[in-house]
Amino acid sequence: MIGSPRRHEAECESTQALLAPDDPEGAIATTDHQTAGRGRLGRNWIEAPGTSVMVSVLLRPPPERRAQELSLVAAVAVALAVEDATGLAAQIKWPNDVLLARRKVAGILAELKEGAVILGIGLNVNQTREELPLDAKVAPGSLRTVDGRERDREEVLTLVLGRLEGCYAVWREGGLDALYDDLGSRDFLRGRRVTVDGAAGVASRIERDGRLRVDGEAGPLLVESGEVLFER
Ligand code: BTN
Repeated sequence: MIGSPRRHEAECESTQALLAPDDPEGAIATTDHQTAGRGRLGRNWIEAPGTSVMVSVLLRPPPERRAQELSLVAAVAVALAVEDATGLAAQIKWPNDVLLARRKVAGILAELKEGAVILGIGLNVNQTREELPLDAKVAPGSLRTVDGRERDREEVLTLVLGRLEGCYAVWREGGLDALYDDLGSRDFLRGRRVTVDGAAGVASRIERDGRLRVDGEAGPLLVESGEVLFER
């Protein structure tokens, strides 16, 4: 079951470092504040204390599944949880961002540690506009900046873990294909002009195997990972 055992620290460097590869599957670590929060591509993840949901989850995917797909699985789960919490439609910016009203409200970091995957989720819940970073690549938001409501972070965490439990079970059974409708219908980049690794083109879709298809001048490009910059 995802969520047990749970280790909670009022403050820590990063919840990613609170889990060990031999912890049971489903173990989670949470905190109210990270002093060295980690983002993708070596970036920092910065939040004002007590404003967001930060959770790391230890998963041990079965050998027949591609562990790299887990950040998309988590993105679907977080998007569904954001929709549960707000009643608004969320989108997924491939490969790991969740957007609400075009603002990045959540990011996902999947790290491999001795065969286990530590999936880190940071979800902006109660930050005010002033509490969000100014220098982010994608304009940041929180649930509160989008709909003006403050929320109980534990309730939001429960929604996230419940959706992750469901999406992970579906993925274990049927792979990414089984989650494809929920993923494809929330694809933020579809039809947008993007640049990825210096190549420009139009993001046409997320493929059923999780790669991003970009149609460039030199033909289609199937992107496995990396950072996608988009035009507004
Ligand atoms: C990103 O968008 O670059 C990914 C951000 C991931 C942040 C979460 S917060 C909980 C967990 N602990 C970390 O240090 N990072 C992840």
